[in-house]
Amino acid sequence: MAAPAAPAWSLLPQPATLSPASSGAVDIADGAVVGVQGADHDSTQAVAQQFVQRVADTSGLHLRMATGGEPAAITFEVKQDANVADDAGYHVTVDNHGIRVTARTSRGAFYGGVTVWQLLTPPGWTRGAPVKVAHGVIADHPRFAWRALLLDSGRHYQSVADIKRLIEWMSLHKLNVLLWHVTEDQGWRLEIPKYPALTRVGACRQAVGLDSELTGGADRPYCGYYTEADVRDIVHYAAERYVDVVPEIDLPGHSQAAIAAYPWLGVTGKRPAVWTDWGVSPWLLNPNEKTLQFVDDVLDEVMRLFPSRYISIGGDEADKQQWNASPEVQAQMRKLGLANMDQLQSWFTNRVAAHLIEHGRRPVGWDDELDAGATLPTSEVVMSWHGDHDERVALAALRQGHDVVMTPQESLYFDHYQSDLPDEWAGPSPVATLREAYDTVVIPHGASAAEAQRVIGVQSGLWTEQMRTFAHDQHAVFPRLAALSELGWSPERARDWNGFAQRLPAELARYRALGIDYADSAFAPAFTITAADNGAFRVELSNQAAVGTMRYTTDGSAPTPQSSPYARPLTLPGKTALRVATFAQDGFELAAPRTQVLDETSLLGRDGSALGTCSKQPPSRLDGAKPMDAARPVYAVDIGNACWLWPQASLHGARHVAITVERLAWRFGDEARDAVVRGASNQFEIHADSCKGPLLASLPLASAVQAKGQVQLEAALAVPVGTGARNLCVFATGDPRDGQWALARIAFSK
Ligand code: ACM
Repeated sequence: MAAPAAPAWSLLPQPATLSPASSGAVDIADGAVVGVQGADHDSTQAVAQQFVQRVADTSGLHLRMATGGEPAAITFEVKQDANVADDAGYHVTVDNHGIRVTARTSRGAFYGGVTVWQLLTPPGWTRGAPVKVAHGVIADHPRFAWRALLLDSGRHYQSVADIKRLIEWMSLHKLNVLLWHVTEDQGWRLEIPKYPALTRVGACRQAVGLDSELTGGADRPYCGYYTEADVRDIVHYAAERYVDVVPEIDLPGHSQAAIAAYPWLGVTGKRPAVWTDWGVSPWLLNPNEKTLQFVDDVLDEVMRLFPSRYISIGGDEADKQQWNASPEVQAQMRKLGLANMDQLQSWFTNRVAAHLIEHGRRPVGWDDELDAGATLPTSEVVMSWHGDHDERVALAALRQGHDVVMTPQESLYFDHYQSDLPDEWAGPSPVATLREAYDTVVIPHGASAAEAQRVIGVQSGLWTEQMRTFAHDQHAVFPRLAALSELGWSPERARDWNGFAQRLPAELARYRALGIDYADSAFAPAFTITAADNGAFRVELSNQAAVGTMRYTTDGSAPTPQSSPYARPLTLPGKTALRVATFAQDGFELAAPRTQVLDETSLLGRDGSALGTCSKQPPSRLDGAKPMDAARPVYAVDIGNACWLWPQASLHGARHVAITVERLAWRFGDEARDAVVRGASNQFEIHADSCKGPLLASLPLASAVQAKGQVQLEAALAVPVGTGARNLCVFATGDPRDGQWALARIAFSK
């Protein structure tokens, strides 16, 4: 009888070169020996031990480190002259002698170890069972030197333990830079002994809105910072996984917390509160000598704590209104012979950068000043987030001689929500899908070969205004980090969405084994329901990535890989509970079941998240208060414009309407200027045909203004709606800056 075939390799990121043999496999089972050979023995031994631990933790196989010269099933060998591309590269050879990782450095051995761990967790692996690994050779090395995740610990901070988990998971995606954003308007989170008020004052803000759920009450401030010991712990842990922690001290904007601690750092002489809003704060550092001395002192401490060659000094979103209004700053600008405040920011950045360069470090910063037509020090690495689906700012940076890291907000800002599903988590607009992340343009269009060489990497951003918990961080980061991993590591010729999608089930199974709470948004079924004949319903299913097979049940049971596959729109009778999940070809559940009950309310009601916005702008998704006994609601809201459209609503002669709403704290800073105020009083209005059409109902909000959480309001319709389809417009009157109304659901009844 033929032995069962070894599963095909399923690796992520896709290696540079794969050469599977036509036959043959190695069996790895409990007790298999892991050996270490060659140079750099201690580091390679540590890499091998980490590998053994990871395999035990995740796959349940207990491998054993060699104690003497015994033959090993898996060997790590570092040879400085190994024929391997790049210091971070490696070869994995699987043949009759076993599995051998060869690299020039322990860093390469680490990445080889990650690949072997993936070989030991192939599609369909069972915990603890022996694994067959197909013979062949993998020759691999990274495409880019900078493969980064930015973590914003300013808006909401994460525990040291959670940051370590994130670093471990990054390293398993072969990422190597944690861009750690530790200063913000909303919190200064890095202990600087020379300036104790930075953390004594600057690390605390009033607990506004949902922050009070974290602190236990609105009267308890939201506080947190990292001590020197915390930083050393994180840096050391990251180094063991070949991740550099690049700190970001954001200057001269995003500095309101620093000015709250030391008002002399500012321009106005006044002391602001640590900010409780999101957005762009007007508080800027004063670009004078006293501030520059402060910045040098802070950076000296940063350089003591962080061995990274790179240090970010930010430079984004420095709103110049305070500088423009200050005679002192105006005089400084003129004295320096500068034409405008953007040039003054460039001057300031040059001074700060010079201090880093003097100490052998390399400054990193955002592309904002280039976008504004000013310059940055040529040695500064530019993180390019501007462009709006166009890489013009990145291209300008390359043409000015900068090394560039591509981090386009449209596709690589992982705080953006990733689907329009009713159960999608909160995040700013617009949607950034898994596919969009995968399809990110990493070499600007129009770049010459020489310019392209200066694109040193890619970076995703985890900005945490709306991410109060590590569960939310995980939902936002995974699996989009898998897409980033492939952008950063795999050669351009390996870019293949279908191949990526085929390799995802094995990767998601590894996520489960690692305990990662990932999003299934790209694969989850979405329901479109319309009326069919005789009171039945027509249901159309789709999933965003168009990957996998959606399978359904109508008897209330959870769908399995054997359940009916969805092929074309279904016609189902009323009172059916339709349950749908998405499965990969091998039966792996790509998306957990979603349920849609089909009854009269499915046509007469809509969740707010299924409505359009009156501005036609994509909505943001905002969290509501968590009810005691139910999931936290998430609302689709056009911030500053509480107005929704329900096109072609079939109301079948409805006579009543009920809406469920919640009033959210206004925390949207500079977005206030775009707020749309409709009348003075506080009510919801429902109009037919257009927002100025006949008033169907008005629902006074007086009782809801002070309520915590959701409130339901009901009214009889003022005029008959008829039986045909009507466009509906639903809005709240009043000023959104006094409280942003969100619409959970609108439901008509007869
Ligand atoms: C940024 O997103 N403000 C860099």
